[in-house]
Amino acid sequence: MVALTIAVASVGCAGRLPDYKPPEAVREVAEQNWTTAQRQWFHHTSQGTKIMPYARFMALEQPQPSWPDGAPRFIEADYLPRLGFIPSPPSAANPDGLPIGFAKDEFGANDGTTETEAVVGLTCAACHTGQIEYRGRAIRIDGGPSMADTGAFQERIGLALYMTYHSDPRFARWVLAATGEADTSEARERLRRRLELALDAGATGRGLAERRRLYRVAEGFGRLDALGRGGNFVFGTLTQTPSNLAVADGPVSYPALWDAPWFDWMQYNGAIPISGTSKFPKDLNGMEILAVRDVLPAFLPRITWIRSPFTPVRDRGGSGRGRGALE
Ligand code: HEC
Repeated sequence: MVALTIAVASVGCAGRLPDYKPPEAVREVAEQNWTTAQRQWFHHTSQGTKIMPYARFMALEQPQPSWPDGAPRFIEADYLPRLGFIPSPPSAANPDGLPIGFAKDEFGANDGTTETEAVVGLTCAACHTGQIEYRGRAIRIDGGPSMADTGAFQERIGLALYMTYHSDPRFARWVLAATGEADTSEARERLRRRLELALDAGATGRGLAERRRLYRVAEGFGRLDALGRGGNFVFGTLTQTPSNLAVADGPVSYPALWDAPWFDWMQYNGAIPISGTSKFPKDLNGMEILAVRDVLPAFLPRITWIRSPFTPVRDRGGSGRGRGALE
C-alpha cells in the first residue's frame, strides 16, 4: 500500500499532459514521392526496438488511480497523442491502429524457449514524422520533426508497470487482459517474475543516471539528446562499462530527414562523417539501431530495410553525393 501511494504520488510528478482534440481532417503533405503502402511501411515497420511484449502493452492501464474499475488503457485513442504521437488508422501494417512510429514485431522469447513472441517497439517514424494541427486541420510532414515526448512516454510506461506490480487488482486485470488467462497462480507467477526483472533493470539504470545526473535537462516535447542517450546505451549499458556513461544535456529538435543523403557530416554536431569509401554510413545505421535498443540477434538482418524509405528522395536528381548515407 505504501508503494502504491508512492507510485500514485509520483504520477503527479510526471506532470499533467496537455489535452488532445483530434483534427477533423488530415491532409498529407505535398508530394513526397511515396505510395500509401510505402508510407504505412515507414510508419509501422519495426526497426527492431523492443519495448515490451505486445499483448502486455495493449493490456497496460494508464498510470493514474484506478479505483474501483481500473484506469483506461494506455492505448486509448486520446492518450498517446497527448504524449505527442500522431494517430494512425488501422491497416495491415498497423492492425490495432497504434500511432505512427509504433511497430508490432515477432521476436524469440528470451526465456530459454524457442517460442516467438509479438513485441511492440518504436520505429524511426515516431521521431521523424511531423504533423502541424491548427483549428481542426492537420498537415502531415513525412520525414519531418515529431513533437513526441519520448522521455515522458518511457517514464509513464515505467510508472504504469510499477503500479501494476504493486496493486493486486490492477495486476489481476492485466494478467487476464494480456494472456486471456484467469489470474491462475502459474500465469501470475510467470508475469510477476518478468515484470520484476524489467522493473529491477529499469530501477538500476535510473538510479545510476540520477546519482550521476546524466540527464539533467528536461527534454520535453519535440526534443531529445539522441546522441547522448544512444551513446550511453551502446557504450555504457550494452557494454556494461558505467565509466563510459556521459552527461547527456544537449537535447535537440528532431531533425528532418529528407536532406540527410546529401550531407558530408551527419548529426547537428557533425559527429559522423560520410565519405565515399567510409564505412561510417553503415555504422550509422548500425549505431542507430543499437542505440534505440534493438536486440542483438535481430540487428543484422534489419540493416537493409532502412535504406529504402529515402530512396525516392535520393533519386530526385541527387548528385549521388552521400549516396551511401542510408545504405
Ligand atoms: C527516439 C527518437 C528517434 C528515433 C526512434 C529515431 N531518431 Fe533519428 N534522430 C533523432 C534525433 C533527436 C536526432 C538528432 C540527433 C543529433 O544530431 O544530436 C536524429 C538524427 C537522425 C539523423 C541525422 C540527421 C541530420 O540532420 O544529421 C538521421 C539520418 C536519422 N536520425 C535517421 C533515423 C532513422 C533511419 C531512424 C530509424 C532507424 C531513426 N532516425 C530513429 C531521434 C530519433
